[in-house]
Amino acid sequence: MLGEGADFVRASGPDYFRLLKAMHKQLKPSLYLEVGSRTGNSLALTDCDFIAIDPVFNLKHLTVFPGRQAYFFQMPSDDFFASDFLAKTELRPDFSFLDSMHHYEFLLRDMINGEATSAPGGAIALHDCCPFNAVMTERKWVRRRTREWTGDVWEVLAILLDKRPDLSIKVYDAVPTGLVVIENADPNNTVLKDQYDAILAQYDCVEIKDYGVTKFFDSFEYADTSAYLTETQAL
Ligand SMILES: C[S@@+](CC[C@H](N)C(=O)[O-])C[C@H]1O[C@@H](n2cnc3c(N)ncnc32)[C@H](O)[C@@H]1O
Repeated sequence: MLGEGADFVRASGPDYFRLLKAMHKQLKPSLYLEVGSRTGNSLALTDCDFIAIDPVFNLKHLTVFPGRQAYFFQMPSDDFFASDFLAKTELRPDFSFLDSMHHYEFLLRDMINGEATSAPGGAIALHDCCPFNAVMTERKWVRRRTREWTGDVWEVLAILLDKRPDLSIKVYDAVPTGLVVIENADPNNTVLKDQYDAILAQYDCVEIKDYGVTKFFDSFEYADTSAYLTETQAL
């Protein structure tokens, strides 16, 4: 579609699997939590204990995990967090990857719940927040119009940059659609939870072209995925 990609700044670094793998190597988490695991492709990058959540598992890439604790929750993430499993078991993930439903309110809730149950100072990665055209940001995925779909989760990055200046937020240029990495989760911070309804009122039905594509991409600088991979290879 003509002009759809104008002003979008496309992520062009190494792919997000390489970045996630390097993050596992550097962070050495003791408990990894993943929302949206499907085939186990990204889940297989971890070699620590893990919690995987997805209403529809179709595991192909992770079938054995000797010596490790593995928790699978076949349900929507809202149900998982509402179950209070983490509070009851006193488990606190120190690295989380949020990669589920591509509607911003889902990712926002995963961020709120994931941070509230994270280990203090834990890392949280958010996928697909950097679209490279407008069609892929539509809330309904029409596959004949776009093969790659981010939905409107770019809004969560805009919200975090606006509402959470206390967070260390890096936006890596990992293809295809960036990886947002938060390095200092604060489980006691309730700003997003307290403002959830107001945030929805502000951001509902906002399309990226109305928000401003340039405004969005001017609000952050891409962090260098290649440099991160080089640093971690030296570890
Ligand atoms: C893009 S796929 C995940 C891909 C995987 N993380 C990877 O990189 O290999 C998104 C997954 O989110 C799951 N999903 C959709 N809605 C969800 C929800 N409410 N809670 C948790 N997972 C959800 C889908 O079933 C799907 O398997």
